[in-house]
Amino acid sequence: MHIGVPAETRAHETRVAATPETVKKYVTQGHRVTIQSSAGVGASFTDEAFAAAGAELVDAASAFGADLVLKVQSPTDAELPLLKRGATLVGMLDPFNADNSQKLAAAGVTAFALEAAPRTTRAQSLDVLSSQANIAGYKAVLLAATLYPRFMPMLMTAAGTVKAARVLILGAGVAGLQAIATARRLGAVIEASDVRPAVKEQIESLGAKFLDVPYETDEEREAAQGVGGYARPMPPSWLARQATLVHERARQADVVISTALIPGRAAPTLISVDTVQAMKPGSVLVDLAAGRGAEYEGRRGGNCPLTEADQVVVRNGVQIVGYTNLASMVPADASSLYARNLLDFVKLIVTKEGALNIDLADDIVAATLLARDGQVARKA
Ligand code: NAI
Repeated sequence: MHIGVPAETRAHETRVAATPETVKKYVTQGHRVTIQSSAGVGASFTDEAFAAAGAELVDAASAFGADLVLKVQSPTDAELPLLKRGATLVGMLDPFNADNSQKLAAAGVTAFALEAAPRTTRAQSLDVLSSQANIAGYKAVLLAATLYPRFMPMLMTAAGTVKAARVLILGAGVAGLQAIATARRLGAVIEASDVRPAVKEQIESLGAKFLDVPYETDEEREAAQGVGGYARPMPPSWLARQATLVHERARQADVVISTALIPGRAAPTLISVDTVQAMKPGSVLVDLAAGRGAEYEGRRGGNCPLTEADQVVVRNGVQIVGYTNLASMVPADASSLYARNLLDFVKLIVTKEGALNIDLADDIVAATLLARDGQVARKA
């Protein structure tokens, strides 16, 4: 099969959907791989390395013109016409964005959105949300450490003792747990909160303190169980108690990293404007939900309404980091892990003989199928 890998063109995107390692594997499997020239440059993979792995270096039209097109993000409006009708497209195609799904359907491609894969053991090796959120959680701590005007670890020096930074992590999914582990390696003292009771043990096993907001009603208890491992919106009663606790802990914190998301919905508001007013000057908030929260002053914030997408803003002396694509700030490893996720997914839809085989009895294939035969295949 002819596999094409175009360069990514969206703002702040530095990743690439194949690496020399995965190209070599596709070629060994008998596929022809074409890569757009310079597609790997942002992730430190040279054209020479791709050529040595067996890829042909081509222009955008040829890479998009393949039978199977591998992307990081969804093609732009300008790129859609470059796709062949009947071709297959695999990437992080934003499955909750109904407009985009419609455009992909209209382009006549069979599209698979990997973000929609189920969170099952079998799907782990192709779980793009995990591979990329893990990187985002790590980078969030490093960004915070760089902006924070003090040390992270406790230090005893001849000139006196430096206190360890207090880090508050809100949302302990894949990104939050990696943020805990990374902050811990830097010597910070960490507290973390999540709605799902299952994460308490994971938080504690990483050496952080679990901030408990006990459930008071069956409705709260049931909502907290989530669905498919994901959080559901919590009742206002619980959120109000959580807000009081977060306000109290954020006032004491030096760094807050918020990662709370609810698939298909606006991210919950966890750090209110009042809470930011109460935080210490010089403290840092890294909001991984930037651009995905509720509307505030005509734009979408994150877990904090004051967050501005792709900006670092200072409010009340608090530095609020709103970068929306942290994985792209670790582009070589982000691409390597993502490319391996794709390699594993492709095995599910391409036979050993190189033919396309879409088996809807496979739960991963069925869940990720976004568009086919001109129709959107998945409810946004
Ligand atoms: P996510 O990125 O959708 O959300 C991040 C975190 O925010 C979640 O832990 C969520 O519970 C939390 N959250 C939502 N509302 C909140 C609130 N009001 N306050 C505090 N926290 C809030 O989640 P992610 O990282 O994608 O993980 C989702 C689930 O999938 C987890 O249960 C994870 O353990 C599971 N998972 C399973 C895998 C597998 O079995 N293959 C692989 C990876 C993750």
